Amino acid sequence: MSAVSIRNEDYQAFSRFLERSCGIVLGDNKQYLVASRLGPLLDEQGMAGLGQLVQALESPSGRDLKGRVIEAMTTNETQWFRDTYPFEVLRKHILPELERQGVRTARIWSAASSSGQEAYSISMTLEEYKAQGGRLEAEIVGTDISPAMVQQATAARYRANVARRGLSVERQQRFFDSIGENTWEVKPHVRRRVSFKVHNLLESYAGLGKFDLVFCRNVLIYFGWESRKDIIERMASVMKPGAYLIVGASESLARHSEEFELVRLDGGVIYRRR
Ligand SMILES: C[S@@+](CC[C@H](N)C(=O)[O-])C[C@H]1O[C@@H](n2cnc3c(N)ncnc32)[C@H](O)[C@@H]1O
Repeated sequence: MSAVSIRNEDYQAFSRFLERSCGIVLGDNKQYLVASRLGPLLDEQGMAGLGQLVQALESPSGRDLKGRVIEAMTTNETQWFRDTYPFEVLRKHILPELERQGVRTARIWSAASSSGQEAYSISMTLEEYKAQGGRLEAEIVGTDISPAMVQQATAARYRANVARRGLSVERQQRFFDSIGENTWEVKPHVRRRVSFKVHNLLESYAGLGKFDLVFCRNVLIYFGWESRKDIIERMASVMKPGAYLIVGASESLARHSEEFELVRLDGGVIYRRR
């Protein structure tokens, strides 16, 4: 399938399917993206074009296919300690504040956790905080729509080139075991407080429990205004009063919710549940 061979009505129908199922808004003129991401799947399924795929997705037997399509269309880009700032703020301000409040085991949510780097970076930051005398513990829950990402995150094994992205040599040696050729595994003491599960941010948040801190980074940018607003409001409902929400460097809650106040810290911005 080439971008030019996608009929406009099929592209529109596919865009509607994608937004409805996972929130992602394609916008206009992303035919090339659809063609490059879905081409291999269409070939594998022996489908002639996007129209046939849309039809299959709408049929009762389209469930497995739906997962594969979402898998192909989502961007899983991530890295250890991405953007540095959130983890500095966590160590210097948020963890000490929670400890001062008498929290013993903080509940932290890494929403849209991809292959797990964000959740494990939070756990490594807690290790560094504890090494400086902090006594707080944490239960870190990573969630993602992609079962493949959740599986990879749970395995906590990364190829050497992935294990290095964003990590100092000191952190790599301290928090990883080399387990054979080219593979690094997150050490058990970092892993033990982290768990992962499949969760679609557009679906129910019941069963997640209440959180003291939420990281939701580099996922809302792909969504439309309505989905963002809905997600932010539902996130507020699973956060304790005063809990912090950290979004991506290019994201903001502006105009989306009355439930949060903006907090300026160390030259950056995070949000606090009112
Ligand atoms: C770019 S990654 C961000 C990873 C990490 N938060 C970070 O900032 O490095 C975006 C992740 O969002 C996930 N995602 C996309 N739509 C989602 C949805 N509706 N519910 C949950 N996760 C979703 C994707 O599978 C992908 O792993």
